[in-house]
Amino acid sequence: HAVGNAASDTSGTCKTCRDTTMEKVLEHFSHTWRKQEENVMKFRALLSNRCHGLTKAVVTKANTPVGSNIVYDGEKRKPLQVTPELFSTFAKEHPFMNATWDTCSVVGNGGILANSSCGERIDSAQFVIRCNLPPLTNGYERDVGNKTDLVTANPSILLEKYGGLQQRRRPFVESLQSYGDSLMLLPAFSYGQNTPLSLRALYTIQDFNSPSRPIFLNPEYLRNLARFWRSQGLKTKRLSTGIIVASLALELCTNVHLYGFWPFNQHPQHRQPLSNHYYDDRQSKSTVHAMPAEFDHLQRLHSQGVLRIHLGECA
Ligand code: CTP
Repeated sequence: HAVGNAASDTSGTCKTCRDTTMEKVLEHFSHTWRKQEENVMKFRALLSNRCHGLTKAVVTKANTPVGSNIVYDGEKRKPLQVTPELFSTFAKEHPFMNATWDTCSVVGNGGILANSSCGERIDSAQFVIRCNLPPLTNGYERDVGNKTDLVTANPSILLEKYGGLQQRRRPFVESLQSYGDSLMLLPAFSYGQNTPLSLRALYTIQDFNSPSRPIFLNPEYLRNLARFWRSQGLKTKRLSTGIIVASLALELCTNVHLYGFWPFNQHPQHRQPLSNHYYDDRQSKSTVHAMPAEFDHLQRLHSQGVLRIHLGECA
């Protein structure tokens, strides 16, 4: 990929090629964006028919009864039979069943958000989705806002930052304060190790009376979504959190705005080097995800007026 992939340093590669590709990307964003209702409806119908996000994105008591088998989506392993105890942790109703949100902000964690002043714009949406428990305080608010209706939590974060919740759990609960009573979406049934970690997160939240509302991503939905994107020509080992929640938003919201989606290490406008995240330079796993390829698809939807990608400053 000629534009530097944030996950692989491109310094030393052909500068002219890089500039040419950057020009092409910028070309897409130079036109005034206009929503194209017909394209929105077509794409939403396609997604809904194949993935059923409104009723299937989350594991509920209605779609996953006691005795049923949960098939993991990230690795081959024995399906998990739902015991009454596991069942008791499932959401009673599907949280998106009556979703009629007008405008949604979907916030990726890209370094492009740093110094963007996009916080107010992001927060002005009716529903705000964020990825992987990102920091919202300590000066980030101006750029990323703080309203959160749904936040995803990769169980790997619980391992890395909170010792898998095996010891003191208060720091985890305190870190959740910035997300208020938002839904916390956990991919509990993607890999075997995710299940005990997600359950510990849920029990911790309950035991500490945190207002956070944990829910589990349905592996069946993730499989359908992966199949959907494959059929669109996307080649990747695993979908990134960002494209999963952007897809969900396309089913749930009338207007979808993406911020912090820019998996490249150079700013598209002023060409300054960018860190991978707005809060650190930890690299994404390029062996698992194909974020630049995902970005191509999102950019296509931007050009078709289906969703709007915000790059650059908001003020
Ligand atoms: N993202 C992006 N550009 C970046 C960094 C992130 O477009 N430079 C988007 C991706 O869609 C990503 C999401 O923002 O999934 C959240 O970022 P991050 O927390 O870095 O995700 P990862 O941990 O790398 O990957 P995942 O949670 O998807 O496994």
